[in-house]
Amino acid sequence: MKTGVPESELESSVFLLQPGRAILCTTKNGDGSNHVAPFSWINPVSHKPPRVALALLNHPKKQHSLENIERTGEFVINMPGLELAEKLVESSFLTLEGENKFVRSGFTPLPSIKVEPPGIDECKAHLECKVISSINTGDHTLLIADVLCAHYDVDAYGPSLSINTEKFQPALHLFNYNLDKSQVHIFLKSSSSYTIEVPYTSAFNEE
Ligand SMILES: Cc1cc2nc3c(=O)[nH]c(=O)nc-3n(C[C@H](O)[C@H](O)[C@H](O)COP(=O)(O)O)c2cc1C
Repeated sequence: MKTGVPESELESSVFLLQPGRAILCTTKNGDGSNHVAPFSWINPVSHKPPRVALALLNHPKKQHSLENIERTGEFVINMPGLELAEKLVESSFLTLEGENKFVRSGFTPLPSIKVEPPGIDECKAHLECKVISSINTGDHTLLIADVLCAHYDVDAYGPSLSINTEKFQPALHLFNYNLDKSQVHIFLKSSSSYTIEVPYTSAFNEE
């Protein structure tokens, strides 16, 4: 049996696309200090050249990361493992006046090669990105960016850059809700892979 999402609640239909791949995005603040925040609306959008698209909230309040990226054109996508889930969620929380989120998080900055914002050493992969265009898609701004440089942990990824599931569990985010003094976040935990071999169709063989 299937049921429809009521039209009055259609905004929640995007949750049918879960899990979201949560990443930590690092940027530079106006004063040159480092900034970090987690985002999951990220996708590859071109292979050659390598490009990614990241959707950041612009309404009713613009994400601070978006302000930083609009000013500098640069950001780094860092792939955290599930062991960083608490810190990842905490880095979405607001800061007090004068507080720096990167410093508060305790993450170790990893110098980048082609962009100013550093990566996060505790993460397993780093994509250094430069914005080539942005689109206002509604309450989010979609940033399309070239990947200028990328590096990764050789224990976390195999030679073909597929995840080594025994060593690295990405932060696959399912859902969250607020309590009085905390937020609850549910991540997908899976430490195995599912391998299949599919015979070519005859049409494919003729090509
Ligand atoms: C797992 C997770 C995924 C998130 N994904 C997004 C996202 O894709 N886009 C977005 O605008 N905010 C997302 N957020 C919310 C931002 O992290 C949050 O609003 C944060 O305060 C933004 O920080 P900034 O204003 O310092 O940039 C996500 C939060 C969490 C915990």
